[in-house]
Parts: sequence; structure tokens; C-alpha cells
Amino acid sequence: MAGLRLGILISGRGSNLRALIDSCNAPGYPAEIALVIANRSGAEGLKYAAAAGIPTQVIDHTAFPDRAGFDNALDRALRQARVQLVCLAGFMRLLTPGFVEAWRDALVNIHPSLLPSFRGLHSHRQALAAGVRITGCTVHYVRAETDTGPIVAQAAVPVLAGDDEDSLALRVLGAEHRCYPEAVRLIAQGRVRLERERVFIDEPASPAAILINPPPTPADL
Ligand code: GAR
Repeated sequence: MAGLRLGILISGRGSNLRALIDSCNAPGYPAEIALVIANRSGAEGLKYAAAAGIPTQVIDHTAFPDRAGFDNALDRALRQARVQLVCLAGFMRLLTPGFVEAWRDALVNIHPSLLPSFRGLHSHRQALAAGVRITGCTVHYVRAETDTGPIVAQAAVPVLAGDDEDSLALRVLGAEHRCYPEAVRLIAQGRVRLERERVFIDEPASPAAILINPPPTPADL
């Protein structure tokens, strides 16, 4: 366990945090978790981090008079831990433009939709209402406007007949747990280049697969 020093920000369950912890524990993974910060003392994810021997901090946003004060406290803690890449993992606080700018190109988020579709809250509800056949998740660099920024990685997930928000969220979450560690690996390996607000990845691993949902029957092919 060594490499790019990650700071993970969570608000709750922390299943994406757990996926990152598992990856960082795997031999040869090019990143390590220096610090986990939660804005709620009850965030369940804190337990995983503590059990894995990772330093944790609770920075309770309600203890600060304004967003800037809270974000300054985050910034101080992250810098003290010598964090190099901040990963938002179910962190449900909007960050100030000042914080986002201070961590520009060193701050990533995972969002449970194929951005730029379905930004903001309730992305699965939005996907179901729109009737899309394929949704997914996106890991992206964070910019001041919520759920925008250069896209590092996405995973596609089918919407199935009979899906409700919970069943769809669960299927997308499985994809998130693969996508986030993979995106962080690419960044930590120095293979992600940002040019004019687009991400270019050196040596793409494999040609893109074609996804169609529902799949064509053999007779159609
Ligand atoms: C994940 O689905 C993540 O994509 C989403 O919250 C969930 C957190 O789950 N994030 C957002 O909606 C941010 N806009 P987790 O705590 O188990 O990782």
C-alpha cells in the first residue's frame, strides 16, 4: 500500500469508500488512503475506515457559520494529511467555488448517472422518468457547477423492466464499485491527461464495446 495519497470525503454508507479501501489493499495498486473525512459523526463508512486502520476525522458542517468556514477546515485537514487527490464518495455537501478552485484537477466525484444526463439529486428517479434503457455512473473531475467537469470514466448499466429506484440504484452501485477504483488507478498511474476540459487516457486498454439495450435477438444480427 503506497502511492498517490487519497483523501476520501463521505457523508453516509461509504460503500464506494469500501471499494477504494479494498483496491488500495490489493498488491500493486498505485494509491493509498491518507485520510477519510465525514461531515456527519454517524456516517457508517467511518467504521470501515477505522477497521482498516485508516485515519478518520469528523468535520461537522453544522459547527460552522457558513460554507466557506467548513470548506477551510476540510482544506486544512487534507493538506495536513498531505493528500494529493480528493475523492468525493457519497459526499452530500456542495463545495464552495474557492475550495473547488484550490483543488482543481485534484478533486474527483462519482455520480450515479451517465453525465451530463441526470445531474443533481434523485438521478435514478430522473432516469426512470425519462425512460432511458441504459444508465450508469460517472467519475469526473469536479468543477464549480454541480455534477459537471471532465469525465474520467463511465460504466453503463441497463434499466430493466420492473425496475424501481432501489433496484436500479443497487445495480448502478455495483458498477460504481468497479468504476471508481479503475478511474483512480488511471489517475494515480499518471495516464489521465486534461486538455481543454476533456480527459485523454494514454493507451486505452481495449476498444470500446458496443452496448445495446434491449439486446438484438440473434435473428436481427
Ligand atoms: C453513490 O451512489 C454515489 O454515486 C452517490 O451517493 C451514493 C453514495 O453511496 N453520490 C451522489 O449522488 C453525489 N451526487 P456510498 O456512501 O455507499 O458510497
